[in-house]
Amino acid sequence: MRKIPRLNLHSDINKKYFGKDFHWGISTSALQTEGAFDQDGKGLSTWDVFVEKRGKILNNHSHKTAADFYNLYKTDIEIIASLNIPNFRFSISWSRIFPNGIGKVNQKGVDFYNRIIDLCIEKNIEPWITLYHWDLPNELEKKGGWANREIVNWFEEYVAFCCQKFKDRIKYWMVLNEPMVFTGSGYYLGVHAPGKKGLKHFLPAVHHAVLCQANGQKIIKSIQATASVGSTFSCSYISAFSNSKKNLAAVKRSDALVNRLFIEPALGLGYPIADLPFLKQIENYMKPGDEELMKADFDFIGIQNYTREVVKHKFYVPYIKAKPIPANKRKVFHTSMNWEVYPEGIYEMIKQFDKYDGIKKIIITENGAAFPDSIENEKVNDSQRVHFISNYLEQVLKAKKEGLKIDGYFVWSLTDNFEWAEGYHPRFGLVHIDFETQKRTIKESGVWYKTFLSNQ
Ligand code: BGC
Repeated sequence: MRKIPRLNLHSDINKKYFGKDFHWGISTSALQTEGAFDQDGKGLSTWDVFVEKRGKILNNHSHKTAADFYNLYKTDIEIIASLNIPNFRFSISWSRIFPNGIGKVNQKGVDFYNRIIDLCIEKNIEPWITLYHWDLPNELEKKGGWANREIVNWFEEYVAFCCQKFKDRIKYWMVLNEPMVFTGSGYYLGVHAPGKKGLKHFLPAVHHAVLCQANGQKIIKSIQATASVGSTFSCSYISAFSNSKKNLAAVKRSDALVNRLFIEPALGLGYPIADLPFLKQIENYMKPGDEELMKADFDFIGIQNYTREVVKHKFYVPYIKAKPIPANKRKVFHTSMNWEVYPEGIYEMIKQFDKYDGIKKIIITENGAAFPDSIENEKVNDSQRVHFISNYLEQVLKAKKEGLKIDGYFVWSLTDNFEWAEGYHPRFGLVHIDFETQKRTIKESGVWYKTFLSNQ
């Protein structure tokens, strides 16, 4: 097994090397933490419906209580303050604001986000908002959800409303969270809500997400010219299982799908059809003038990186003709998600994104790891997570020293939470949650991050 080199607090990874203006933060999302799925007038989201289908979520877990952030937000924001974390990225639940997706507003939902924002500001924490982190109002899914082009209008109404309401206190907005994952897992593989499968759902969903990503940016800027607007992209460095011609070609196709599909149309480069020919079918969903509507002028790009993929050519895998080899099969060091720990990958991805013209700033809006944490004597000794974060940070620093446009780093995540189809099993938090009692215990990694952030 590949070992992560042990680092301690006196290793040469030090906040000061990143510069004074580097953004340090912590990330969460609404569905994974809030619970209270039907409290105070919230409408149903696609996930509220999806988790009811047996066999979809590991152990049939449900996010309906999660970390109860809806009721315990004060405790959690106080923890953020106590850890000296200056930036907090969270998402808004669309169906808490618009129970039916559009139309009637749920004032209690708006009040909730006002309370969060106000408390952050009171505690000197900068709130960063993600507008869409995968929880679509179910009423909109009934009309086709992301596969219906009408979503561009629905999303515009929601984004404009949030921006009007919160613009007096919010400087940083992210339009979408990882569109590749919510379209791929939700509309192609069917393993995430709404559980749809096949290209006929996936391709329109991709195109409409690209349109919403760009339109969201434009709407926010038109309402709040001073805002800093970004969107977030999942990315994984892709290596070939061997250097055979076929495997190298499989890497190229996988990279086009995993890392390029959403950023390139935003930058005016169109879809990466040349390297992934089946994407040509997306043109069936395009209308004249769409190329222009796909472009977005982001102030920053959020990249979210956890692992790398090692792929092999596989003829029988439809469209992509490539297959990732799982980390346990390769016998490499991996997390509870069976994701290889590969710190060099974050550097490679920063480098890859930095090469594009038109990207002004890159922020790591998520990076972190799930390990099997347990409480002993009121403590969680998660030194593997400390090593993981410090090793990845060394690679971020390498990028920074080379002059790449890297401008911030957010850990995923504040608390243990509902990890989508994996339920509560993978624990990503710097803070342990006992999901029976909702007791919070700051892990060793939380204390480490605090110490790291306290360096001048
Ligand atoms: C998502 C998070 C998720 C994390 C770990 C990202 O894909 O934005 O919601 O919990 O990765 O899987």
